Amino acid sequence: MLGFKKRQVSPTPKDLKIIPREIKIDLEKGLKDNLYWMDGDPVKTHFMNALQSSFPEGERMFIDSARDVRDQCSESIPEELNQQIKLFIRQEAIHGAHHEDWNNALIGLGYTRLAKYSAQLKSERLKMKSSAPAIFRLAVTAAGEHFTAITARLHIHGDPEFLNSLDRPVRDLILYHALEEIEHKAVCFDLFEHAGGNYLTRMLGAVSFSLGMMLHVRRIHVYLLKKDGLWNKENKKKARQYIWGREGLFFKLLPDILDYFKPSFHPWDKDDRKWLAGDFNNDLEEYGIQAPVFA
Ligand SMILES: [Fe+2]
Ligand SMILES: [Fe+2]
Repeated sequence: MLGFKKRQVSPTPKDLKIIPREIKIDLEKGLKDNLYWMDGDPVKTHFMNALQSSFPEGERMFIDSARDVRDQCSESIPEELNQQIKLFIRQEAIHGAHHEDWNNALIGLGYTRLAKYSAQLKSERLKMKSSAPAIFRLAVTAAGEHFTAITARLHIHGDPEFLNSLDRPVRDLILYHALEEIEHKAVCFDLFEHAGGNYLTRMLGAVSFSLGMMLHVRRIHVYLLKKDGLWNKENKKKARQYIWGREGLFFKLLPDILDYFKPSFHPWDKDDRKWLAGDFNNDLEEYGIQAPVFA
């Protein structure tokens, strides 16, 4: 199995708490008042809008795959992992609803083709659900969870300027989502390993996730900028640099992306607990959200 040795004990910290938090954020008003909420910059803002537009269907796919694999091996799953799966599903269901609101707010602002793109993603998700083995879909999910967790880490820890460049309330939603993505980052990975998923399947899942995500985000990013009449030479260059340039997102994430290719990789090889309870959590206090606490 390509040097893959089955892990006996998951490195997921024992004091980790996964907390599904209910949070109400008026995104519709926020987006209407301030269309370019990231740095006043349409290229960056629409990149994030494009990325998040995949989340409602993407997170439903993540939930489906975890549920299907869990049901296939329900009797052998340790109680602790079983509980984590339930909490993961709850967190993702709440996130999905927020991102659905975000998409609807954009549709309300005139980006009507987003509805068609979401319908396409839904039909792809259902097709995949009926045709691909659950363990492969969970491999796609595990890759997606790694991507969201490393992006979350970069956004709220590795790149301190990022949060400062966002206007509220979008900033609050991104921060809250990022915290929860870190909390549950290993749940699907642990389930995948528990269910006997091997290295090759994990890699195929990672390739499938990466291609699907890149194609989707690119298509929506271009659409949003075209709709605003801003898909011009200057912005095309700016978009390329923002994503693929030497200081761009891809290169910032590259060390974490490469980690995933190690046969011995585990999401908690990097222990995020030391900064997860950071000062920025105070920003969420008005929503009644408490900072994560570790024993
Ligand atoms: Fe999520
Ligand atoms: Fe997630």
